Amino acid sequence: MTQTAHGVEFTQQLSATPTPAEERAAILAAPGFGNYFTDHTAIVDYSVDLEGKGGWHDARVEAYGPISLDPSAAVLHYGQEIFEGLKAYRHADGSIWTFRPEANAARMNQSARRLALPEIPEDYFLGAIRQLVSVDKEWVPSGDGEALYLRPFMIATEAFLGVRAAREVSFRVIASPAGNYFGGELKPVSIWISREYARAGRGGTGAAKCGGNYAASLIAQQEAEAHGCKQVLFLDHFNDNAVEELGGMNVFFVMKDGSLATPALTGTILEGVTRSSVMQVARDMGRAVAERKITLDEWRDGVVSGDIAEVFACGTAAVITPIGVLKDNTEFIGSEDAKAGETTMAIRATLLGIQTGTVEDTHGWLTRLA
Ligand SMILES: Cc1ncc(COP(=O)(O)O)c(C=O)c1O
Repeated sequence: MTQTAHGVEFTQQLSATPTPAEERAAILAAPGFGNYFTDHTAIVDYSVDLEGKGGWHDARVEAYGPISLDPSAAVLHYGQEIFEGLKAYRHADGSIWTFRPEANAARMNQSARRLALPEIPEDYFLGAIRQLVSVDKEWVPSGDGEALYLRPFMIATEAFLGVRAAREVSFRVIASPAGNYFGGELKPVSIWISREYARAGRGGTGAAKCGGNYAASLIAQQEAEAHGCKQVLFLDHFNDNAVEELGGMNVFFVMKDGSLATPALTGTILEGVTRSSVMQVARDMGRAVAERKITLDEWRDGVVSGDIAEVFACGTAAVITPIGVLKDNTEFIGSEDAKAGETTMAIRATLLGIQTGTVEDTHGWLTRLA
């Protein structure tokens, strides 16, 4: 069967063994994050022909399952891989929507340029998401704070060990029902300062969403967990310990005067879709927002003096999470008894409300998927 989504034709070969409804219901009752996957996947392949021209082809939806790759496939050796993350939300009337998917498509293509991968036309990116969600719509949870997490990714599939950009590539989307990222109620989290490890360096791949950045961050995340922290903070050690971002989230400060500040994009920080949405929501509330350099010293001194009233992290997976404590062996900034700040919670409520259809979408951020 052929279906059209966003002007692109996708063939469909549906799963012969979809998850039984009772099993799916049991999964949706407590999905956690990243544990379970829906019955299908959307795929578009790319190859460069002998004249050196490249093209996307074979757009299709098929049963979710293992990928067959040649052991010499470039992605397995040189990590030529990028990914994205966004969510599909079920609204009260049963309709399914996603949030600013064009921004994810644009960011995927920025990452593609950095990793010498082919750019994927927005129609394919959005078409793949729409196709997958329409086929697997029963998997979109409806509980508070729940959504279907969508993971588009692109891998270099060419069987070749030379170090050059691969000529065969596959773009895929998988989907995973998601509950509250950090589990349980919304409590301020503790963050560990990474002193030894950097996530990114100037001219490196920091602003790209490529697997290698995350591989490089795992040792610091392990260190954080060993110290009872949920996430790790990366600093620019060569620039006055300027605050960069967490392992998977951007950081915001609410100042005493009600304005917000967030680290400016320097090429080493991921340009979060939530980050840009938080800035807009805050400005809509009449608050000033500064993108600037914020050092660890300013964070510590600001919390002590009261110039910094609230600190929070933001990203697609956990939306907005208050930060209670920032620490390492020499620092302890904040308090373990901290409560979520009022501004943090107000911005969170607005953003979640827009995503889930209970607050008016004045910026046209939502796209209906099913
Ligand atoms: C390193 C990093 N920073 C920030 C973010 C937040 O980005 P977004 O709001 O687009 O999810 C993410 C999550 O994807 C991330 O992995």
